[in-house]
Amino acid sequence: MQNQFYLTEKLPPYIFAAIYELKQQAIARGLEIIDFGMGNPDSAPPQHVMERLAELSCDPKLFGYSTTGGIDILKKSICDYYQRRFGVELDYNSEALVTIGAKEGIASLATAISDEKNYICIPSPSYPIHTFGFVIAKTNLHHIEAIESRDFLAQFKKYVESVKQKPQAVIVSYPCNPTTEIVGLDFYEELVSFCKKHQIYIISDIAYAELYFNEKDKPHSILEVKGAKDVAIEFSSVSKSYSMAGCRVGFACGNQNLVGALYKIKSYLDYGSFNPLQMVAAEALTEKSDEYLKNLRQLYQKRGEFLVDIFARELGWSIEKPKASMFVWTKLPKQFSHLSSFDFCKKMIEECGIAMSPGSSFGKSGEGFIRLSLIRTEDEVRRAASKLKTVF
Ligand SMILES: Cc1ncc(COP(=O)(O)O)c(C=O)c1O
Repeated sequence: MQNQFYLTEKLPPYIFAAIYELKQQAIARGLEIIDFGMGNPDSAPPQHVMERLAELSCDPKLFGYSTTGGIDILKKSICDYYQRRFGVELDYNSEALVTIGAKEGIASLATAISDEKNYICIPSPSYPIHTFGFVIAKTNLHHIEAIESRDFLAQFKKYVESVKQKPQAVIVSYPCNPTTEIVGLDFYEELVSFCKKHQIYIISDIAYAELYFNEKDKPHSILEVKGAKDVAIEFSSVSKSYSMAGCRVGFACGNQNLVGALYKIKSYLDYGSFNPLQMVAAEALTEKSDEYLKNLRQLYQKRGEFLVDIFARELGWSIEKPKASMFVWTKLPKQFSHLSSFDFCKKMIEECGIAMSPGSSFGKSGEGFIRLSLIRTEDEVRRAASKLKTVF
């Protein structure tokens, strides 16, 4: 009997699983772990969301299957959010769809649109599902190796112009996980106009759209560009902006063909998230959460500044302050630059119990970089700095 399978052989161990393993080993040796690895928000969701969920979860009528593509209340709330936040009009029936988190949505879209004759352009580094969603869907990939957004756009255009067969789609995701890069509307305008010319779909992921630290850096939606809906679909989610990662509610908006394809595949695969979770996600997306968002932005900004300052002072590790997201992204400290990013992370977990994410796990050009999530308190960051100091 076959005991090796095509896909499971082809997929490398999921990075967070590898890091998890190292952490478990360190814990078994008695080390305390301070974990900057996964981007799992540690804040409570908005109070109004938790209270409403408590009420709704006592209603037995809500425990049945939900609806493929999401309940209307949530789809309408997503459209209101896009109107209020980005000035984008959407038809809730044909241009908005609920997913089981953005991750599931992107992977399902990959399944829906992929075939072996086409290929997708994917940034490297990038959030792993951008690549592996399409690996799982068994289509072809071309990575654009670029840390900076302008470099990505220039390289993407150059590549497309140099090849006869154009990609079926390109992925963009800003604020970027892992690099924290942001882009202005001019970036999207250039991308949309280029992709329209070459008939390339755009898959945008703005999971961190609400986590920005200055008005001038406020992230845009690609759908703000006139005519973007002709080529673009955009994913987002309540996971990061409202600290509701466990609720598994995301959404996709924009191009009707892609939204329709996603709906069709999902009608075979799932029945959607638990109704009460969709209902409270609808409430999270309203103005009721404005104050919450303001406080959450301040929290991540303050944590970012605190970490950058203390790591510079105590470790001589110079890190740039992020403009958005819930991460810092930095080169390996000079004295460890001979190590791969994975080996550096391994060493830090093993020797002082500090867990971080190696840049290489987000793609080849992430090598030489480290990502730290801003999910630890100031006290934990202070302790992490003194533990790291013993190894530095
Ligand atoms: C860029 C990006 N998109 C999507 C996700 C996942 O979002 P969700 O929890 O909605 O699946 C993440 C999670 O880390 C992410 O970094």
